[in-house]
Amino acid sequence: MNKPTISLPPFGCFFLFFSLFFFFSLFSSVVLALTDAEASFIPQRQLLTLPENGELPDDIEYEVDLKVTFANHRLKRAYIALQAWKKAVYSDPFNTTGNWHGPHVCGYTGVFCASALDDPNVAVVAGVDLNGADIAGHLPAELGLMTDVAMFHLNSNRFCGIIPKSLEKLRLMHEFDVSNNRFVGPFPSVVLSWPAVKYIDVRYNDFEGQVPPELFKKDLDAIFLNNNRFTSTIPDSIGESSASVVTFAHNKFNGCIPKTIGNMKNLNEIIFKDNNLGGCFPSEIGKLANVNVFDASMNSFTGVLPPSFVGLTGVEEFDISGNKLTGFVPENICKLPKLVNLTYAFNYFNGQGDLCIPGSRTEIALDDTRNCLPDRPKQRSARECAIVISRPVDC
Ligand SMILES: *[C@@H]1O[C@H](CO)[C@@H](O)[C@H](O)[C@H]1NC(C)=O
Repeated sequence: MNKPTISLPPFGCFFLFFSLFFFFSLFSSVVLALTDAEASFIPQRQLLTLPENGELPDDIEYEVDLKVTFANHRLKRAYIALQAWKKAVYSDPFNTTGNWHGPHVCGYTGVFCASALDDPNVAVVAGVDLNGADIAGHLPAELGLMTDVAMFHLNSNRFCGIIPKSLEKLRLMHEFDVSNNRFVGPFPSVVLSWPAVKYIDVRYNDFEGQVPPELFKKDLDAIFLNNNRFTSTIPDSIGESSASVVTFAHNKFNGCIPKTIGNMKNLNEIIFKDNNLGGCFPSEIGKLANVNVFDASMNSFTGVLPPSFVGLTGVEEFDISGNKLTGFVPENICKLPKLVNLTYAFNYFNGQGDLCIPGSRTEIALDDTRNCLPDRPKQRSARECAIVISRPVDC
């Protein structure tokens, strides 16, 4: 019994989806003349068929049959990636990508070539630097084709969306700076997959959720996390970090500072400013003799200053203002040899060493306002102080 074929709506949808899938599979596997019109499909194909996390399937490979030839296969792959990226740009006010056409990708503004690490006779795209270009757009999964990129600097643009997982193919990544953009989603854990990465800067974006403990186990020089929406605790693994600079500021980190912080062997600068951190300062902070900048301001730290803080012999900038600290500010902290600026304002201290009084020494800036210090100007009211001081914290 031969019934006439009826295209029912569900079948029609399925068929449409299937044809698109087939079309794009074909697109990615056969010889292809990549005209401008065809290249314009690339970002669409990402939106239509690539997984949401921006993964680049292992079998993805394009053949570009252009009239022009490329110096080598790696530059051709970079070309495909850069053309996909150009199509994913919605606004380019300084025309930075204006010359991103043709096979000479090494001449593109913001694209830097160098000899391949594994073959000095082959030129490859080793870096991208679009700092300050104010470009709006997203990062297409095709960027995973630029496997020789070691330096990726995008700071101060308007890139949005997620960091595609396909970037895990950039095994040589050394410096990754996507700061001051509009990226969203969880911490871009693709950064954990790069074996040689030294510098990770994701500050001033809208990343949210947990910061993975593995981040601090990598051999990094600098970790910039500030001005996002991270909500996790600070992992105990921070003690394993080789970083000299770590910034947590202006997020919603909660919990305590882990005791393991004392094990950070290269630390020069650590910024906890403006989070929801609390508890007492662990005495292990005093082991950080090479720290120049210690900023724990605008949190909810309680208790007294650990006597071990006298071990911060390298500290220049020391800011513990805006917490719920109590007790005495000891003289020996105010006499730390490198001290330039010590701010302990907006706490509940009720005593201070003589050299801790602002104006006691001209070379050091001190701020003791809004505490509970007898005979000092601009202090909290007796009533305000009584509420906190009458309930001492047992650290
Ligand atoms: C952008 O740059 C390209 C190549 O340098 C140039 O041809 C084009 O006219 C420029 N566009 C604008 C709007 O300036």
